[in-house]
Amino acid sequence: MSDEVKIGIIGVGNMGKSHAHQILDGKVPGAKLTAICDYDQSKLDAFKDTEGVAAFSTSDEFYDKADIDAVIIATPHYDHTPLSVTGFEKNLHVLVEKPLAVHVNDAKKTIAAYENRSDKSKIFAEMFNQRCSPLYRKLKDLLEKGELGEIRRVNWIITDWFRSEAYYASGGWRATWAGEGGGVLVNQCPHQLDLIQWLFGMPSKVRAFASCGQFHNIEVEDNVTAYLEYPNGATGVFIATTGEAPGTNRLEVAGEMGKIVIEGGDIQFIRNEVGTLEHSRTTDQGFGGPATWDVKIPIRGDHPQHNGILRNFVNAILNGEELIASGVEGINGVELCNAMLFSAFEDVTVELPVDGDAYEAMLKKKIENSTFEKGEVKEVHADMSSSF
Ligand SMILES: NC(=O)c1ccc[n+]([C@@H]2O[C@H](COP(=O)([O-])OP(=O)(O)OC[C@H]3O[C@@H](n4cnc5c(N)ncnc54)[C@H](O)[C@@H]3O)[C@@H](O)[C@H]2O)c1
Repeated sequence: MSDEVKIGIIGVGNMGKSHAHQILDGKVPGAKLTAICDYDQSKLDAFKDTEGVAAFSTSDEFYDKADIDAVIIATPHYDHTPLSVTGFEKNLHVLVEKPLAVHVNDAKKTIAAYENRSDKSKIFAEMFNQRCSPLYRKLKDLLEKGELGEIRRVNWIITDWFRSEAYYASGGWRATWAGEGGGVLVNQCPHQLDLIQWLFGMPSKVRAFASCGQFHNIEVEDNVTAYLEYPNGATGVFIATTGEAPGTNRLEVAGEMGKIVIEGGDIQFIRNEVGTLEHSRTTDQGFGGPATWDVKIPIRGDHPQHNGILRNFVNAILNGEELIASGVEGINGVELCNAMLFSAFEDVTVELPVDGDAYEAMLKKKIENSTFEKGEVKEVHADMSSSF
């Protein structure tokens, strides 16, 4: 087996360019960038002095001619599906940017192509870089060990995804139903929608409310509040917007044995000495919960973000390392996103799994009925470190 993975990247805009430089700068051991593809010539020109990297202006030519073992897909969302499907048909390893797809029907097409690939050793990963966070990894570990007992409530306020009008003007595809397929849930929140399912599993019901263009001149949602119900009766609230500053990123989990809060780069665990319900059934006191301990949780390791996923993808190919985020799991976040938007726009409670055809039909209607006119596209300064 080779000790090097030849990688091609489709879409070298903000994110794809950043991945390319990680590889070119030697920050992904075992990876070699051999091809890039973008239909915007100016994006390819940025690499014209880079030796050994072939540039293609169409994905057809890229897939036919590039000397690659693996492809990273970093285009706008709708193209994730056809480009991933072709990647598997061409017998490549595939790493797709988030979200896996705009809607569950497309996510299923990609997963089917992966499952039908001729060489079953080919890897399918997704760029869920926030799964590399030591905070969320620690929380997962605590939950799996049952430290919190049965989960009762999950609240995630994720309102620090602020985006300006300049951001939305920076790409013709951005924040349109036809070009992007949604707003804050499709672009920014795939990370949290993935983490919430990774940590707590899938809810059985979703009821959501969403406003489109409440804070920006856009036609898609920029403010969402969703209520989630889990099979064990636990409930959740998920609040997201790109229109608030400074905003909040606070994940609070309440369980039988206490609560954990992740906020401001910290994890706080307040542990009950005895379970809440056990205390309720056994105490002769009318007020006050069980005694608690403040548990200091050591957080070890750094947060390598995208580099962590890139390294893991290459190590999975070369050494069989377990994937941090398999592409197949990407459908769950897409499902949550679709459930929230369907619930909000159709004014119904959605029972999961989502009806993919009904969702696609709703989205199609939004595209057909769109009268929104996107203004002039202007380049914007993009610091990818603030877009995780
Ligand atoms: N993981 C993260 O933290 C993170 C952060 C930002 C963006 N992203 C994701 O990265 C992807 C791209 O976002 P971006 O901000 O880089 O967008 P962008 O507009 O800056 O770049 C996209 C590039 O793809 C090119 N392109 C589009 N369709 C193409 C096609 N079919 N073939 C070849 N080239 C094509 C465009 O010309 C453009 O240069 C999106 O899926 C986005 O959600 C992920």
